[in-house]
Order: sequence, then C-alpha cells, then structure tokens
Amino acid sequence: MWEPMSAERAAVKTDQDLVNNILKLKKERKALILAHNYQRPEVQDLADYVDDSVGLAKRAVEEPDAEVVVHCSVDFMAETAVILNPEKKVLMPSPGARCPMAAMLPAFQIHLWKEKYPGIPIVLYVNTHAETKAECDVCCTSANAVKVVESLDSDTVLFGPDANLAWYVQQKTGKKTIPIPERGFCQTHVLFLKEDILLLKEENPSAEVIAHPECSPEVQKVADFVGSTTQMCTHATNSAASKFIVATEMGILHRLKRENPKKTFIPAYEGAWCVNMKLNTLQRIYLALKEDRYKVEVPRDIARKAKLPLERMFEMMNIDLDAK
Ligand code: 13P
Ligand code: SF4
Repeated sequence: MWEPMSAERAAVKTDQDLVNNILKLKKERKALILAHNYQRPEVQDLADYVDDSVGLAKRAVEEPDAEVVVHCSVDFMAETAVILNPEKKVLMPSPGARCPMAAMLPAFQIHLWKEKYPGIPIVLYVNTHAETKAECDVCCTSANAVKVVESLDSDTVLFGPDANLAWYVQQKTGKKTIPIPERGFCQTHVLFLKEDILLLKEENPSAEVIAHPECSPEVQKVADFVGSTTQMCTHATNSAASKFIVATEMGILHRLKRENPKKTFIPAYEGAWCVNMKLNTLQRIYLALKEDRYKVEVPRDIARKAKLPLERMFEMMNIDLDAK
C-alpha cells in the first residue's frame, strides 16, 4: 500500500546511504538477503547470495543463524522460504512482486485435473502458490525438472503451470507431460521470438544462444544451451565461446557480465523485463528491515502439506536439507 514518505525516510538520499543503512540493520537483525538472478543490479550487488529459484531455496535453509530472510524475488520463492524455514521470519520488500504464471494454476484446478487423469502423478514447477503445491506429488524447478520426471515411476505426468517447460521435459525424458493448465506461460519469456534470435545469430555467427526453458519450443530449438538461470550463468562461464545471445529476463545480464567480464552478452530481446522482479528496490529493502515489512505468511496446515513435495524434489536431487 502506498504511504507518504516520512522526513526520516526522505533523509536517506543516495544509494550509498541506503546500502550503509541496510548493512547496519542486516547485522543488527541477523538477516540474510537473498536475490534472484533477475533482480536489479544494485540489489544483486547488495545480496548475500544471488541464485536461481532452487539455489535460493537451499541458501535459506543452509544459514541456521539467520533470524530474518529478506527475499528479493517474487511471491512463490518467498513462500518456499517460509515453508522450508518456519522458524525464520521471511520478508518480501515488495508485496506486489507476484509471478503471474504462478497465479495461472489455482489449487482448486488441481482437483479437476486429478479427476480427469486419476492415478497420474502431478509434478508442479515451484512457480506455484503454496496451496497449489500442497496438492501435488512432487515439485521441480527448471534446474531439476528433467531429473524429477525421470525419477518417477510413470511414463506420463501432469505438469504445470508452464507449458513450455512441460514441452522441454517431454523432449528430454521421452515421457508424456500433460500441461496443466493447457497453455500456462511466462509473460516475459513469450516475448522471445525465433526470428529475432536467428537475425542476431546471422550478425554474430560465433555467438552461442543460451535460453531458459520458459521460452517457446521454437526458441528452445534454436538454442545451443537451455537451462535454469544459474545453469545459464555456469554454462556461459564454462563454455569456450566468448559471445552469447541471451534468451531470458534482462536482469541476468548483470550477473553474466560480472562473472565473465571478458565475454560479450547480447540480449535476445531488450524488452524482456519481469516488472514483478523489479519491484524490489534498495529503498524497499531498507524499509523491510527497518519496519519489519512485509512478513510472508503461509497457513501452517498448507505449509506442512506443501513441504512434502518440496522435500521430495530435494531427495531426487540427492540434497539432504537437514545436513546444514
Ligand atoms: P529459475 O529457477 O531458473 O531461476 O527461474 C525462475 C523463474 O521465475 C524464471 O522466470
Ligand atoms: Fe514469473 Fe516469468 Fe517473472 Fe519468472 S520471469 S517470475 S516466471 S513472470
């Protein structure tokens, strides 16, 4: 909710003032600042860790001394932190940072899909709300979706909400992935077009195309590498190529350039911004720590149910969350 700025807040003027104040509060409050790879450059530079969705889920668990987690991302990632860390206070600097794709599969629809396909396992992308997760068999992220589906003892799975990720998993595993809903999508990743990428490739023949699996199948087919945001960063570092055409949200370019200063990164489309991710600003992080806003809550019974499919996902990745 918008509120007029107090004189005290207005006195904090520059980014450096804000950073200094945030670091002071962070220490006092034993806080951990987590940032997704799409966050604004200044937020990434401030964070303790910058990672993909599964990486952030792990980081919050691996820091037992943290009492507060400031989650600079979107709603479903912050909720995941609450589910896995009920003893910690999780704050979202901007409560409006909500992933539209996660809203495409409300929990009640899961019951309808279950009725239509009885006995078929339900695999849900972490980009879902806690109540929806609570109804599924196992969660996955783009970093581990193939492994999760391969590990299941079924040739067919219901997979949602991203139909493009469902297509990717079907190609990689040879199993049938039935997308639920039929056309769930990310409004940022649908902006990438095969034609734009082919044009850039013509102008930069030595460049590798790296893409996120939320891109359309047509875009994925012209990519040299498809993976999660952190996997894209790792690939860029390990690859012998020195130029990359990048088909994911623009925020990742900051990390790519920081980790690979000698390499060149060309956005596949310069308008690919996730406005939700960009709502987290230094000012809002400062207020989050100063005024304890906005606490992310997941009802206890939902959290308990949603934790099971998340734990199954980590088990399939051979990650023991209790080994902190
Ligand atoms: P990653 O898990 O690859 O970071 O993706 C999350 C996301 O929301 C991509 O749009
Ligand atoms: Fe959701 Fe797409 Fe934004 Fe990722 S980039 S948080 S999937 S809207």
